[in-house]
Amino acid sequence: MKNNEIIDKKPITDGLIDYEKIYEKFSWETLKKELNINDGRVNIAYDAVDKHAQTWRKNKVALYWEGADGTCQKYTFLELKSLTNKCANMLQKLGVKKGDRVFLFLPRLPELFISMVAIAKLGAIAGPMFSAFGPDAVRDRLQNSEARVLITTPELKERVDTVLWELPKLEHIILVNDDKREGAEEEGNVYYHTLIKDSSDTFETEWMKLEDPLYILYTSGTTGKPKGVTHVHNDMISHYITTKWALDLRDDDIYWCTADPGWVTGTVYGLWGPWLCGISLYVYDGRFDAAKWYESIQNHKITVWYTAPTALRMLMKAGDEVIEKYDLSSLRYICSVGEPLNPEVIRWGSKGYGLPIHDNWWQTETGSIMIANYPCLPIKPGSMGKPFPGIKAAIIDGKGFELPAGQHGLLALKPGWPSMLRTIWGDEKRFKEYFNVNGWYATGDTAYKDEDGYFWFVGRADDVINTSGHRVGPFEVESALLEHRAVAESGVIGKPDAERGEIIKAFVVLREGYKPSKELEEELKIFIRHHLAAHAYPKEIEFCTNLPKTRSGKIMRRLLKAKDLGLPTGDLSTLED
Ligand code: PRX
Repeated sequence: MKNNEIIDKKPITDGLIDYEKIYEKFSWETLKKELNINDGRVNIAYDAVDKHAQTWRKNKVALYWEGADGTCQKYTFLELKSLTNKCANMLQKLGVKKGDRVFLFLPRLPELFISMVAIAKLGAIAGPMFSAFGPDAVRDRLQNSEARVLITTPELKERVDTVLWELPKLEHIILVNDDKREGAEEEGNVYYHTLIKDSSDTFETEWMKLEDPLYILYTSGTTGKPKGVTHVHNDMISHYITTKWALDLRDDDIYWCTADPGWVTGTVYGLWGPWLCGISLYVYDGRFDAAKWYESIQNHKITVWYTAPTALRMLMKAGDEVIEKYDLSSLRYICSVGEPLNPEVIRWGSKGYGLPIHDNWWQTETGSIMIANYPCLPIKPGSMGKPFPGIKAAIIDGKGFELPAGQHGLLALKPGWPSMLRTIWGDEKRFKEYFNVNGWYATGDTAYKDEDGYFWFVGRADDVINTSGHRVGPFEVESALLEHRAVAESGVIGKPDAERGEIIKAFVVLREGYKPSKELEEELKIFIRHHLAAHAYPKEIEFCTNLPKTRSGKIMRRLLKAKDLGLPTGDLSTLED
């Protein structure tokens, strides 16, 4: 346990100045009153966009957008108000009403951000999906949520076409971008830009109850298909204050969150949180490239940057010479989330960027940052930091009893913060399982707390894989592999990887008549990329003749992992033979 290293720094904020004092006296109820929130007369879209359009912020840039080809666009809060009104009117004309699910399968285009706000204005429920998803991933989400409308691009729609027959509840597909394909018009496609042209730019925003659903994000567990984690308008209380205190955002910031809104970080801190605080966002719709990323920081004078450990490790690998070519002096605060952040990366960042990197911890289910390193507290490299004010975090044993400092156990939270998940869409039973351990919300992670109250990540308590910060369920990959004609059985694990945290490794038993080969290995990788998702393909495949199973027939991934890594195999009493 190496937790005596400390990076001390001067508080640079007018936000969270005295952590201990604020933690002590903080109350969500008081904050709610201060924010003047009246249940039944709320809508996050009003607070994030329309409200600013009525103040001095109306001509402030809400979104600086840059495409992969270098095209730049910008939108003020006033322009956003009008564009989101037009989009809401367009959806309303198609019959979308309060409570309907509208799913988004888009690159990081301005229309993605505009649609998310417009959907909220209608009181409908948004379902953002990562643009790297394949047809199976999209089908599972649209099917489970019974989405009525899908907004996508002509290119991405091609991936959905093969599964459309399995989506009887989907009534409309709206295409963003002009479709230049021959015959596109005849296919009966509906175009965003055509529809929006005739839409009015005034719209009566639907007033919501705090507990009305806002968005659904599907996330992976150990077993079964992805679960629809459902969040509500009340989340805005958490979004607002965590953005202010954990990301330290202020009015004059230009902020870049590198996450895609298809993941929770991109939805909460790449859109709602910063806009609730009236902050100018920068969005880059391109792939990772060290030089390009630094150029973005330089050219757009980014002041606060929220990114992920894999990206930071890749930047570290790209070397200091790249940093030296750019002027990164605009940066004042850097945060990271999604996977363990190596102390080595923090030390490197302190030299390379002249700034410490503030790790924070949370989940799709928690809906906002739960544990963080703050501007006002020293950083212990490798630690996730301390619980956010209003959050009671603890390390517990399997019965729900709190463990003392230094002991490894389950990371748990006391339920009741505003952005806690409200249900698993269509699966209340699964939702309740989160609270099975003596009323705690069980995170599925293991960790420990040190004597100073800092939390340290240890691992996952289940088989969930974290590859480059993307949460992948082994069951989803196993199921997708089984769809291939050559595969009889498969077991999937996360294997430690220096750059990506973990990579996906699949153990595959072939059907009669198929032989292991390099070609088949490649074919299976491409198969998963195309069917499930680009980030979920197994980088390593090992062919084997059988898989270790329990007597009840469950694949023992734990054993596969232990064998693969040369670790002790532990209790084998439930092994089949
Ligand atoms: O295992 C933890 C890891 O990511 C999981 C949550 O994944 P997801 O719901 O996709 O949300 C990711 C971004 C909010 C957690 O259960 N994780 C998240 N942050 C950290 C982390 N692991 C270590 N350190 C972190 N800072």
